[in-house]
Amino acid sequence: MAAFQQRVFSGVQPTGNLHLGNYLGAIKRFVELQTTHDCIYCVVDLHAITVWQDPEELTRSIREVTAAFIACGIDPKRHIVFNQSQVHEHAELAWIFNCVARMGWLNRMTQFKEKAGKDRENVSIGLYAYPCLMAADILAYRATHVPVGEDQKQHLELARDIAQKFNNDYSARIRARGFGEAFFPLTEPLISGPATRVMSLRDGTKKMSKSDASDYSRINLTDVADEIAQKIRKAKTDPEPLPSEEKGLENRPEADNLVGIYAALAGNSRADVLKDFGNAQFSRFKEALTELAVEKLGPIGSEMKRLVQDPKSIDGVLADGAARARVIAAATMKSVKDIVGFVQA
Ligand code: AMP
Ligand code: TRP
Repeated sequence: MAAFQQRVFSGVQPTGNLHLGNYLGAIKRFVELQTTHDCIYCVVDLHAITVWQDPEELTRSIREVTAAFIACGIDPKRHIVFNQSQVHEHAELAWIFNCVARMGWLNRMTQFKEKAGKDRENVSIGLYAYPCLMAADILAYRATHVPVGEDQKQHLELARDIAQKFNNDYSARIRARGFGEAFFPLTEPLISGPATRVMSLRDGTKKMSKSDASDYSRINLTDVADEIAQKIRKAKTDPEPLPSEEKGLENRPEADNLVGIYAALAGNSRADVLKDFGNAQFSRFKEALTELAVEKLGPIGSEMKRLVQDPKSIDGVLADGAARARVIAAATMKSVKDIVGFVQA
């Protein structure tokens, strides 16, 4: 494949409260990648409205996710932070991808099947087409690397399929315009570390999610120390002490989850955690986990709350990021239109 400039892109939906899964599976990785890559981090508001969002709540949530990015350590001056709807090229490229992707490909998307459930006839067309918009988000910047949690893996495979089909369908024109064999890169997912899938604190077989009815299932980034402590204390466990080796976590989903969370917060591995806590009772381990979680998340929550007090300044960050994102996305879109055969000025 042709050499593409290395670029990171990822997105987070402004829906509900951000939680520990979003932080460990995604945002913490976004922060780390800033030292090695040019990064673009997007608050994907167009994705959010694939299911109903109260408009005022949506506005609040867009600013809150932006505040979370900054509070976690993303630098919006050196990298790009913006909200998706300010760069119309996302929607424009998504339409073209709607015409590249096949029904059969989208029919396989497990997240759609889960979200639509039995109500398939009554969900929005946007919910179904959402993976094409996600591919457009990434490919508008011809991004090469995308950090996400495990739940997004299938969508990233679809983005590769779309890129590949576009490159093949239009190969003659792509070559004739000097882009070599491929106009779009086949994006690499970055899914690694001890917390690619953080599970509910109430049920180790269910993903920690914004939409779980029980707030005890998740730790929100804005939870205060007492809430964090209470949620960890009440977290489901099993009666055995912790094993001293990773193999002992098999078939113990709750233990595995809490050990994974500890490892991700501490920046080490499950094996390291079990070296320190092997044979410990959960009561002792939970105390240590609470202390670590409060130490790491406390400052983020307070900074988020401080930042959202000043919506003007957050909106300024988004406007500045959007202006810089638009330059890149507009150049891609111009080439895409030319490749597809549209007449343009
Ligand atoms: P969303 O809230 O669906 O926009 O997700 C934002 C990012 O957080 C995506 O990269 C997800 O894969 C990631 N994410 C969401 N929930 C979890 C979880 N329980 N564990 C790990 N990563 C997650
Ligand atoms: N679909 C992702 C989620 O729900 C969010 C997202 C939208 C995204 N566009 C993206 C993630 C592009 C990575 C790259 O979590």
